[in-house]
Amino acid sequence: MSIRHATLRQLEIFDRLVVHMSITRTAEAMHLTPSAVSIQVKQLAESVGMPLLEQVGKKLYLTDAGRAMALTCRDIFERMERLSQEVAAIQRLEKGRLRLAVITTAKYFVPRLLGDFSALHPGVEVSLFVGNRKAILERLANNQDDLYILGQPPEGLNVSAIPFAPNPLIAIAYPDHPCVGQVAVPPSRLGNEPFITRELGSGTRRAYEDFFRQHKTELKIRMELGSDEAIKQTVAGRLGITILSKSTVESELRNGSLVQLDIAGLPLQRQWYVVHPEKKFLPPVTKAFQNFLIERHRDLVPPDK
Ligand code: PGA
Repeated sequence: MSIRHATLRQLEIFDRLVVHMSITRTAEAMHLTPSAVSIQVKQLAESVGMPLLEQVGKKLYLTDAGRAMALTCRDIFERMERLSQEVAAIQRLEKGRLRLAVITTAKYFVPRLLGDFSALHPGVEVSLFVGNRKAILERLANNQDDLYILGQPPEGLNVSAIPFAPNPLIAIAYPDHPCVGQVAVPPSRLGNEPFITRELGSGTRRAYEDFFRQHKTELKIRMELGSDEAIKQTVAGRLGITILSKSTVESELRNGSLVQLDIAGLPLQRQWYVVHPEKKFLPPVTKAFQNFLIERHRDLVPPDK
C-alpha cells in the first residue's frame, strides 16, 4: 500500500479524530459508527505503512507518523477551503482574469469600455491584445484568449459571433479635397484619387477592396500603412484619401481636421462582433464582459442578417 491510496474521506475522518482524540466522539460528530471510524483510520495507517495512533491505558495518542499526518491533513483542508473561497470570489466576479484580443480598429473604443467594466469589477485583471484581422484569427484558431472583438465573423471556424455595435466604414479626405461637399459621388471617382491603404491582413482593407471590386474600380494606391493613426495623419497631410471605421476618426471629424466624403454605397454598414470558439468554457468574468458589451449597445445594433 502507498499513501497515494489514502482517500480524502479517510483524511477527513483522521482530521476530526485529531480534534476529539476519541473514536466514539469522532463517530458521533460525523454521524458514523465507531467501527466505521476505526476501519477508515486503520486503512489510512496501512496506506502510510505505520501506525498513526497508540493507546496507552484508555487514552489515545498520536504517534510521530500520526502527528505528521495530522499536519498534512490540516494543510490539505485549509488549502481546499482557500480554493473554495477563491472559486466563490471568481463566481461573484470579485476576482478573475479577462483575456481579450481585439482587432486594431477596435482599440479606439474597447479601452473605454474596459474602464467602465473594471469600475464595476475592480478585482478583475485584464489582458488586452491588439492586432489586425489576420493576427486575431490566428490567436482565435490557437485558442489563445477568452474573447475576441472582430469586424466580421471568421469563416471556416466554429465560433459564436454576436453583433454588439454598428461599425460603419466611411471615406475620409482632408478638408479642401475637391470631393468635399459633393453629394453621392460615384465610387469610380475615387479610382482617380491617390488612396492610402491599410496593410494586407487588415479586415478594413478587405471590406473596401470588396466594395471597389463590386464597383469595378481599381484603386490608385499611394501608400500602405499598418496603422489607422498613421493613415489619418497622412490623409490630413493631403497625401490621399482613405476608407476607415468611423470609430477611429470621431474626434477628427468633430474638430474638422478630416472630413467624411459622401460616396454612393458608403458607409459600408458593418458591425462589431464579440466572438469565442463555439465549445469554449467562458469563465464568469468573460461571460460578464460579453453580456456587458451586448447590453451596453443593445439599442444600437440592427438585427444580424
Ligand atoms: P482591421 O479590422 O483592424 O484588421 O482593419 C477591422 C475590421 O475587420 O473591421
